[in-house]
Amino acid sequence: MHILSGKEVSKAVYADLHARTASFIKTYGYAPTLAVVLVGSDPASQSYVRSKKKACIELGFGHQDYVVPETITQLELVNLVKRLNQDSSVHGILVQMPLPSHLDSNEVIETIDPHKDVDGFHPISVGKLLIGLPTFVSCTPLGVVAMLDHYQIETASKHVVIIGRSNIVGKPLAALLMQKGRDATVTVCHSRTRDLSSLTLTADILIAAMGKPLFVTPSMVKEGAVVIDVGINRIEDPSDPRGYRLVGDVDYAGVSPHCSAITPVPGGVGVMTIAMLMKNTLQAAEQLADKDTL
Ligand code: GUN
Repeated sequence: MHILSGKEVSKAVYADLHARTASFIKTYGYAPTLAVVLVGSDPASQSYVRSKKKACIELGFGHQDYVVPETITQLELVNLVKRLNQDSSVHGILVQMPLPSHLDSNEVIETIDPHKDVDGFHPISVGKLLIGLPTFVSCTPLGVVAMLDHYQIETASKHVVIIGRSNIVGKPLAALLMQKGRDATVTVCHSRTRDLSSLTLTADILIAAMGKPLFVTPSMVKEGAVVIDVGINRIEDPSDPRGYRLVGDVDYAGVSPHCSAITPVPGGVGVMTIAMLMKNTLQAAEQLADKDTL
């Protein structure tokens, strides 16, 4: 059984990003800059936003933090995004999801300039992905594919079963893997799927992305399958100084002896997501700079 290490793959990605960032700064005299908007004080979201800031600092990117209270109105939030669209010193805009329920996340996402949509959430980005045009792609699916590429795990003609149909992971990942060149046969399962195990047992590559701690058990996995765990769940653990620990959507201890390869949590896909966000931000800065010099 092979452990697919996000730490190892992201190291290679960051080495490439360091070199490209240095060359970008030398050419243009400014750094690629990411603006992150965090609404409210959800601890998991705060933690993700901190990790994104840390990655920016380590790469020498510019970073702008907009932490706004949960009471912000839809109009105020949309206006903040519009200001960031107009601000030429900002190249990537990320609004941390989920938003509090009184806010309309679709309208907020549609307000982001697609040229700065480093999350790949804008309908224009999603549409381009679906028809195979170059565009920003959601960072977690990009991270999964980067891991498969790094470890030379073939997807052509393989049956990939994705559990979870979210706009952030399941849907874009299905679109990426079925694309010409990747050539997987993709099945997307969800909470209303009948007899889930009968499908997951046919997966050459099983991807768990539904946000249910330890949901995938050994009886759901074909012997020798590749298992990718996208889940990052906090479960209570009084023995941990933080009072919680992180587990994936896969019962790692039970499933791993049956796999040919598996991603751990933490240290798997999660690390890759931030590396891909940095890659998208650099790409946004490069493309905006090219547009300016035309
Ligand atoms: N919430 C969970 N994942 C993500 C992500 O990739 N981007 C944003 N903006 N919010 C998220």
